[in-house]
Amino acid sequence: MSTELNLILFGPPGAGKGTQASRLREDFDLPYIATGDMLREHRENGSELGKEAESYMNDGDLVPDELVIKMIMEEIEGKGDDGFLLDGFPRSVGQADALGEEIERRGRRLTAALLVEASDEVVLQRITGRRQCSNGHVYHVEFDPPKHEDVCDQCGKPLTQRDDDKPETVEKRLKTYHGQTEPLVDYYDERGLLRRFDGTRSQTEVHDHIRATLATLRLEERL
Ligand code: AP5
Repeated sequence: MSTELNLILFGPPGAGKGTQASRLREDFDLPYIATGDMLREHRENGSELGKEAESYMNDGDLVPDELVIKMIMEEIEGKGDDGFLLDGFPRSVGQADALGEEIERRGRRLTAALLVEASDEVVLQRITGRRQCSNGHVYHVEFDPPKHEDVCDQCGKPLTQRDDDKPETVEKRLKTYHGQTEPLVDYYDERGLLRRFDGTRSQTEVHDHIRATLATLRLEERL
């Protein structure tokens, strides 16, 4: 039986999905597909999709399903043949249905939906202190500071704050999460795919927990 890992990483904004994803990519050598990063790249390149997505992102709303689903399906088609780690997709029941259909059509199945949880208070504190470089390396001014202020340890590029990390936009993003993405907790639980992780623990503790869970899932796939 195949031991490929087809994974979804989801949870509130700022729960630590991107932070964990960068560690898991190295552990499991998985193609990483992050909707937020892709949309920001489109925005920076001034593509039609980027222009359409910009106002939704700046307002803390979801970009319409028809734009995001097409973008992700093309990416999975190109990179995801031996498994994938999806970060930030699906984010609505419509997106989850579209992904499920596509995976089934290709004769594959999801391995797990990894939920990284954190309260609204924790998330607000984390997002307002987040800094990142244009290569996507993420820091926190208090919890995970770079060695030199505002300079990336890994690539030397300047660290900046994201446009949508202003407190009022974060509050809107949280509202959007609770209204449109949180229903996916029950959705994946009913399908036996949900795995929960306490995102308020240290980065290393969360990582150890996810890695151990995935190692077990992989072993079960082999049996
Ligand atoms: P996206 O880029 O996906 O943002 P998000 O889901 O809101 O998540 P974040 O990237 O803000 O947080 P994260 O959980 O990755 O946290 P991080 O690891 O950085 O989406 C942006 C926008 O794009 C959306 O609002 C929407 O408009 C659009 N979009 C994206 N996908 C879409 C879709 N599928 N459909 C429609 N629209 C879509 O960590 C946060 C901070 O905390 C960092 O500073 C980090 O250093 C720190 N930290 C992390 N873990 C810990 C820890 N354990 N302890 C202490 N500090 C920690």
